[in-house]
Amino acid sequence: MSSDRYAQIVNAPVLATIARQVGLPQPVELDRYRPGQPVVAGPVLSGAAPGGRLEKPIKALLDAIGAERAGTAGEAKALVFDASGIADSTELVELQRFFHPAVGRLQRSGRTVVLGTTPALAGTPRAHTAQRALEGFTRSLAKEIGGRGATAQLVYVEPGAEDQLGSTLRFLLSPRSAYVDGQVIRIGLGVAPLPDLNGDRPLARKVALVTGAARGIGAAIASVLARDGAEVVGLDVPQNAEELRRLTGELGGAAISLDITADDAPRQIAERLEGGVDVVVHNAGVTKDRTLAKMPEERWTQLLEINLSSEERIDDELLGRGLLNENGRIVCVSSMSGIAGNSGQTNYAASKAGVIGMVESMAPELAARKATINAVAPGFIETRMTAAMPIGPREAGRRLSSLSQGGLPVDVAETIAWLASPASTGVNGNVVRVCGQSLLGA
Ligand SMILES: NC(=O)c1ccc[n+]([C@@H]2O[C@H](COP(=O)([O-])OP(=O)(O)OC[C@H]3O[C@@H](n4cnc5c(N)ncnc54)[C@H](O)[C@@H]3O)[C@@H](O)[C@H]2O)c1
Repeated sequence: MSSDRYAQIVNAPVLATIARQVGLPQPVELDRYRPGQPVVAGPVLSGAAPGGRLEKPIKALLDAIGAERAGTAGEAKALVFDASGIADSTELVELQRFFHPAVGRLQRSGRTVVLGTTPALAGTPRAHTAQRALEGFTRSLAKEIGGRGATAQLVYVEPGAEDQLGSTLRFLLSPRSAYVDGQVIRIGLGVAPLPDLNGDRPLARKVALVTGAARGIGAAIASVLARDGAEVVGLDVPQNAEELRRLTGELGGAAISLDITADDAPRQIAERLEGGVDVVVHNAGVTKDRTLAKMPEERWTQLLEINLSSEERIDDELLGRGLLNENGRIVCVSSMSGIAGNSGQTNYAASKAGVIGMVESMAPELAARKATINAVAPGFIETRMTAAMPIGPREAGRRLSSLSQGGLPVDVAETIAWLASPASTGVNGNVVRVCGQSLLGA
């Protein structure tokens, strides 16, 4: 985080005291994944409300990752609570009973995960209501512990999808989810048979197309997918051909230099992926900010073409030719602006909200093809795009989140790698923010 001068300044010893006294947020350095590390680097405390149905899969996952169990006293790196047994609002007190004595013991960059049942599938109106209440609880808990760099998430598991929990719990408990905070994730029945994955190369023998791969978040996505074993096909505009080739060369992948808005781009991409593709990451995107009063049509159209329409055309071509392999993945990059809206970004926010619409509308079709489509919605990520912002909005973007800092491109990439994993067959139609629980549009 060398670019984050604010963090360096407010954490310097003397200034730290002053910053604390005047109430400025003091970001802590977040744990991030390094190859070879365990999933959870410390004791895990788990609990359950009576009548839950997730105790077995939670235990199986904790055993599989060799998690140390926390004792009744002492610190914990992670707290996991199965709330699926809560069927009435009077039973929500089980949350207080488990977390009240445990929350003070949570370590820096700790993890809390609450698991429940998809409210609409909880069986009775009372159970639906109680399960829905978990959202407010989890999002508030995230705000209370964010100062320690710790996070809280809620995972709703559809009845019958208990066996689909592994890849998601593994991701949320690990430092790979460093900048994912206050999120609600929905797990459903798997779209394809669950593969038996061991080791740290879940994407071995998989082909992954990453658009906008020459730099920024796209380069991080390409690197993380290659680290996980994928054969990466990076794509970027011809002007960035050299940067792109350097990166894909290092990763042992292939490069496609073209503009995704070109008329024949979908056909060209399909021809390069003739042998099939397992993961398609729609990352290429631009901003062309102007208030609506000053927005010429050309500026609007160029942006919508790049950020949304070309993605639809590429998907149509790949799906039309049957090139997305079984248990395939489409992962789109939306944005917090697409959720919250942002002054000066009517075009950008429309495109990024459209990306969310694309995920919603295509999820059933993808499931029928034994594939999934999901999106990540980054908040403030430290890249060239955000470095170019004026200092006021830039600092606000960084600080107005539960973790009081911007995220790194690798945080978005790790989230995409989780969605892209062949083990994430039960994660379809989700939009997961990577925003440190930004206060905007929470
Ligand atoms: N940086 C952030 O804070 C942030 C926040 C939310 C969302 N995002 C989204 O993340 C994605 C990556 O952003 P970034 O910050 O890395 O930006 P960036 O500008 O550093 O990288 C974007 C890449 O996409 C490529 N690209 C642009 N138009 C293209 C086209 N027509 N055809 C092919 N490639 C094209 C660019 O050449 C560039 O290499 C974008 O979709 C962006 O909207 C970024």
